[in-house]
Amino acid sequence: MSSYNRSVSFKQRAASSPRFSRKTWVSNLFCALIVVGSIVSFFFVIGCGYLYVLPNLTHSFHDREDRFSNFSVSDDTCDVFDGNWVLDDSYPLYNASECPFVEQGFNCLDNGRTDNDYIKWRWKPKNCVIPRVNVQRVLEMLRNKRVVFVGDSMSRTQWESLICLLMTGLEDKSTVYEVNGNKITKQIRFLGVRFSSFNFTIEFYRSVFLVQHYWAPKHGPRRVRSTLKLDKLDDISKEWIDSDVLIFNSGQWWVPGKLFGMGCYFQVGNSLKLGMQITSAFRTAINTWASWVDRKINPKRTRVFFRTFEPSHWRNLTLRQCNVTKFPLLEARGKDGSQFSDTVFKVVNNMSVPVTVLHITPMSAFRSDAHVGTWSDKPSLSDCSHWCLPGVPDIWNELVISYLLGSNEPETMSASSGFNNL
Ligand SMILES: *[C@@H]1O[C@H](CO)[C@@H](O)[C@H](O)[C@H]1NC(C)=O
Ligand SMILES: *[C@@H]1O[C@H](CO)[C@@H](O)[C@H](O)[C@H]1NC(C)=O
Ligand SMILES: *[C@@H]1O[C@H](CO)[C@@H](O)[C@H](O)[C@H]1NC(C)=O
Ligand SMILES: *[C@@H]1O[C@H](CO)[C@@H](O)[C@H](O)[C@H]1NC(C)=O
Ligand SMILES: *[C@@H]1O[C@H](CO)[C@@H](O)[C@H](O)[C@H]1NC(C)=O
Ligand SMILES: *[C@@H]1O[C@H](CO)[C@@H](O)[C@H](O)[C@H]1NC(C)=O
Repeated sequence: MSSYNRSVSFKQRAASSPRFSRKTWVSNLFCALIVVGSIVSFFFVIGCGYLYVLPNLTHSFHDREDRFSNFSVSDDTCDVFDGNWVLDDSYPLYNASECPFVEQGFNCLDNGRTDNDYIKWRWKPKNCVIPRVNVQRVLEMLRNKRVVFVGDSMSRTQWESLICLLMTGLEDKSTVYEVNGNKITKQIRFLGVRFSSFNFTIEFYRSVFLVQHYWAPKHGPRRVRSTLKLDKLDDISKEWIDSDVLIFNSGQWWVPGKLFGMGCYFQVGNSLKLGMQITSAFRTAINTWASWVDRKINPKRTRVFFRTFEPSHWRNLTLRQCNVTKFPLLEARGKDGSQFSDTVFKVVNNMSVPVTVLHITPMSAFRSDAHVGTWSDKPSLSDCSHWCLPGVPDIWNELVISYLLGSNEPETMSASSGFNNL
């Protein structure tokens, strides 16, 4: 009976399988309700929808039928991160111009982009389907909860995307507000958006390295202006503990220009590690993160995700040149892998708290069409790192949501999430 739920369950290839606690897989009455409810609502939403497939971008004959009829895929055959992008006219999931939480720099259509195929792509795993988001159900599930995003601007984009997606389910949008009345800015450390009629918050903590960034130690070499304490998690980490959903990312800032170029070097304990390679520093930092999670996070309460590296599509990063394409790439061109993502898998495999790795690197690698390019708040500079909204980060959130609604969730999530409203 839980084949539907399992169809969205994570299954990474072979050795890199992240761990789930087995007991959360146990089927129960709630699961049954969820399955029946989702299938019913799914058919309702999708049943009369029209979707089609751009033939040269897919490799499966079944794309067309899958979302309508076939839920009988076992988790053994479904890796949700292995699939294709298919055109689907029922996308996008929201209108950025009607959502006050999309920052202007990501609202490409409003910033002058005229082609709009890029907002209509849905991710289709090879052997299963990602269910269409049922916003009302997600709002109910999140009642009284705290969702926390931690990371860099890519995390902020995903935070914005989730808020906008959920706001489409509300009649009265004025019930949603930033708790301190703050505007979204690039440097801000904390943003918390409250859905007051559902008593939950979606929060963002800016922590681009996850570990502590600190002033340079005295008497160090002059080029050292600051250090990253690789063995110490960011000071604001205490704010992340008491949450129900915790979604991390890091990667974009681990480049020479943003580290050594800014006079930032690595430190472990009291010793400066001037010659340390970035990849090995990243591994040390992620291990620090992992032991923090294992020590501080209660897996019965908090569902932890780590989103892997977001590929960029620069033609020449040094010259900041890039061309946003009209369509997704047909081949990943080597961007489907990343050392950062590999490190995350290795570390997560050795943790005691279950962490779901959102392996979005390969799927996003095709999306050279989805970056902000020159349709940002700085049109003079092209940008092939950040993503337009609506767009690719919405799909990352669809995955998060399918996990949260799936069978492998902490018990507290289903116990108090209002599924009886189905
Ligand atoms: C679902 O699809 C798979 C392959 O795509 C097929 O083997 C199976 O028979 C289908 N099941 C149903 C119930 O249609
Ligand atoms: C989004 O909303 C704005 C303002 O309501 C409207 O002008 C625009 O046409 C909408 N865009 C799309 C793609 O629906
Ligand atoms: C809102 O949620 C918090 C937990 O996040 C809970 O303690 C509080 O009682 C809830 N308030 C209402 C009015 O339900
Ligand atoms: C980018 O441009 C710089 C300056 O012209 C050049 O030195 C470098 O080789 C280029 N990089 C790539 C990847 O083409
Ligand atoms: C990419 O954009 C540059 C300007 O940034 C332009 O000169 C070039 O022709 C474009 N290349 C392609 C393949 O469209
Ligand atoms: C896994 O964790 C154990 C103890 O927590 C440690 O001794 C071991 O080195 C770790 N293995 C890897 C591959 O990181």
